[in-house]
Amino acid sequence: MSGQFANDVAAGLGATPKTLPSKYFYDALGDKLFIKIMDLPEYYLTRAEMEIFTQQTHELIAALGQNPTLHFELVELGAGDGQKTLHLLEGLLAAGYDFTYVPVDISSHVLTQLEARLLRHLPQMHIAPKIGDYFEQLNILYETETPRVVLYLGSNLGNLTDDKSAIFLEELSDCFKPGDRLILGVDQIKSADIILPAYNDAGGVTAAFNINLLARINRELGGEFDLTSFRHVPEYSEKTGIAASYLMSLREQCIRIEALDQSFNFAKGERIHTEISRKYNLDIVDSIIGNTQFQIIKVLRDSQNYFLDIVMDRI
Ligand SMILES: C[S@@+](CC[C@H](N)C(=O)[O-])C[C@H]1O[C@@H](n2cnc3c(N)ncnc32)[C@H](O)[C@@H]1O
Repeated sequence: MSGQFANDVAAGLGATPKTLPSKYFYDALGDKLFIKIMDLPEYYLTRAEMEIFTQQTHELIAALGQNPTLHFELVELGAGDGQKTLHLLEGLLAAGYDFTYVPVDISSHVLTQLEARLLRHLPQMHIAPKIGDYFEQLNILYETETPRVVLYLGSNLGNLTDDKSAIFLEELSDCFKPGDRLILGVDQIKSADIILPAYNDAGGVTAAFNINLLARINRELGGEFDLTSFRHVPEYSEKTGIAASYLMSLREQCIRIEALDQSFNFAKGERIHTEISRKYNLDIVDSIIGNTQFQIIKVLRDSQNYFLDIVMDRI
């Protein structure tokens, strides 16, 4: 991972404009900060999707379309702390379904904690965690002929551009057999006064989460970033429905990264693009899945209509 991390940092900071991949937010500190973000009053996303998972558990279970007497795999891409999924897992066990839960995450730290928590709460459940980048883990979907449901929650898809989402969902749909289902959780387009604070909380937790990317480069690659000389800058366009986060250099500076044996120049005000969080409506999702074999069969919404859990199967 650290070789790949070094390569990606070298490529991103060497590019114009500068960029760093958002998947590197999630080291041990990043995982902790993200758990804090999910509890922030401004971060409505987790609460909205949690409401769907707690208030509509039976509808969700019915939408999985699985036969309670046949074993299936419940694969979750980017499972994180699995807070919302826990309600679905409890519901499935209570209804007597026979399944194995397969959380996939790039953070080994988050997966170890998730597995320990699930074994404590639901000791009867089968769990088979997979550490890795889910873009490179789709081969696990070909490993068995077992019926399968894939969860891709938390608007994780929104971290990709629409072009990349379309390619990823096409690859994912190619792995699906008839009867398999995808539950795609996406955040709906809303006004800036609701969305922007979710990425710019008053307590500065999201800023710390973004800055941790530079701290991680310092820790793991011998970077010499002065963390006080960069500022978290969030933006949201109601027109495009895209929120973006940047780290802006507050002065002209040259930063050395030991493991790369390279230095990078920053002009005052120059930004590193670190994340996009695309917001959706059903038309946008429809156009993204246009070249895939997926079709939408059900849409679950929270009471404020902030968030959608879209159920799809393979045509
Ligand atoms: C925004 S959190 C969402 C967690 C959870 N799905 C939810 O809805 O609350 C994203 C999670 O996906 C993981 N992740 C991000 N990019 C990933 C990738 N390319 N491959 C595997 N896991 C990834 C992170 O480590 C993190 O645990």
